Amino acid sequence: MQLGDNPHFQALENQADRMRAVSLADLLAKPDRQEAFVWQLEDLQVDATRQPMTKGVLADLLALAEASSVPEKIAAMLSGAPINHTENRPVIHCQLRHPDRLASPEWQKLAELAEAVRQNPDIDAVINLGIGGSDLGPAMVAEALAGYADGPALHFVANIDPAQLHDCLVKCDPKRTLIIVTSKTFTTAETLANAALARDWLVAGGGDPAWQLVAVSAAPQQAVAWGVSQDRICSFAEGVGGRTSVWSAVGLAVMISIGADKFAEFLNGAHQLDRHFASAPLSQNLPVLMALIRIWQRNFMARPSYGIMPYDQRLARLPAWAQQLEMESNGKQVDRKGTRLRLPASPLIWGEPGTNAQHSFFQYLHQGLEIHPIDILLPLSPGPLPLPGGWADNHATLVANAIAQAEALALGHRNDLEPHRHFPGNRPSLVISWEQTNPFSLGRLLALYEHITAVCGFIWDINSFDQWGVELGKTMARQLESGEALEDFSAGARALLGRADQLRGTKKA
Ligand code: F6P
Repeated sequence: MQLGDNPHFQALENQADRMRAVSLADLLAKPDRQEAFVWQLEDLQVDATRQPMTKGVLADLLALAEASSVPEKIAAMLSGAPINHTENRPVIHCQLRHPDRLASPEWQKLAELAEAVRQNPDIDAVINLGIGGSDLGPAMVAEALAGYADGPALHFVANIDPAQLHDCLVKCDPKRTLIIVTSKTFTTAETLANAALARDWLVAGGGDPAWQLVAVSAAPQQAVAWGVSQDRICSFAEGVGGRTSVWSAVGLAVMISIGADKFAEFLNGAHQLDRHFASAPLSQNLPVLMALIRIWQRNFMARPSYGIMPYDQRLARLPAWAQQLEMESNGKQVDRKGTRLRLPASPLIWGEPGTNAQHSFFQYLHQGLEIHPIDILLPLSPGPLPLPGGWADNHATLVANAIAQAEALALGHRNDLEPHRHFPGNRPSLVISWEQTNPFSLGRLLALYEHITAVCGFIWDINSFDQWGVELGKTMARQLESGEALEDFSAGARALLGRADQLRGTKKA
């Protein structure tokens, strides 16, 4: 059932008409606002008081979720049913954070490999070559947990633009570098091209590719065919989606950096959120409540974008990770039966860390004509900062800024005499806070966003677990590169390709 066919859709449309005339300032002044719209799981708190919602709106949204069979769909996903029907696969990333995994041979092999690298005095750098989910997850987590890193230096290279690999390799010693080629399919053009260049660099520099090249893949036979030694391959199951694969062997670089025990804490944080997701009633279920706010903003308040602003510099890559998570999952045009959607699904996801963003694009959020809801992510205390200095004071300023932005966006500031200094307010945000970013709280936060994405997909009735929309561009790039059937392309495309070929001294057409 598409969203527009949900029996509660019209009631919510009517609610949205009413809410457009209500100000957030008035809502925030109500005495029961905190009690009704601040939700908590231990130290993880979601403050939804600055959303254009009443208890009646929330009740209708919860009824919408029930009517969309959200509880049954959550259960189906967690039971391993093949809900990714276009690829006939289950969706099993939650199984990777179950404590039972720590007793498995797969975990044992990963942990031993990570430890062997950490203990090896000859290795001082690790480069992860991968793209999309094989890069964004581990790169973001490595940066987020930099305060816990005590292994070799980590580098991440994703782009086929050779400048990225080049600029990384010039900083590394080929005899002292471990290269992890991370690709679920082991067919991704960018990753394999970078891996080939990196292997040449290792060999030319006197490294030992048989030991220094490791592969992480759900297609281990492809990695062997490419030339990685069988005993240097860590595999994972096909039911683990690329964008939710950081929990699997794809997290190897992170595990090498922080150690297997801290990586297990990261999994455990996610597992805590999984248990909450599986068992909490919808009205207290954080991912469900946050998904309903996404739907409310996207489809009823008609907001086309959604910002994610971490007030935590180490979470700087979280918005990019969330872009793949939400937009590759829910940037879809048809429902599960293949019928065209009548209402749009994923909003455009974007964001940057605060306070930097306040000095660049927050102007647009405060005074632009269109309204864009945002999440403000806020750890209440800093992560590890071992150098001596007044770090706590600066963190207190960061916290004050995050809260100030949420309030300023919601309440505004009237100025009739100077229109350029008038702040209209009424701009919604969610403030998501926790005590401190550490492996456990990070795992919990990422699992929260994963489940928000899944629940939105359940309500839109789309398959959030495939990504066919990325294929056409890949095919056309291969065609242009090989010079095959160039007549299929526009004159402009052929001319531009010709200019580049000419500069390079090659000619295809
Ligand atoms: O092209 C999109 C995509 O398939 C993503 O879904 C995936 O995370 C990324 O490419 C990398 O794929 P792989 O891990 O198979 O190299």
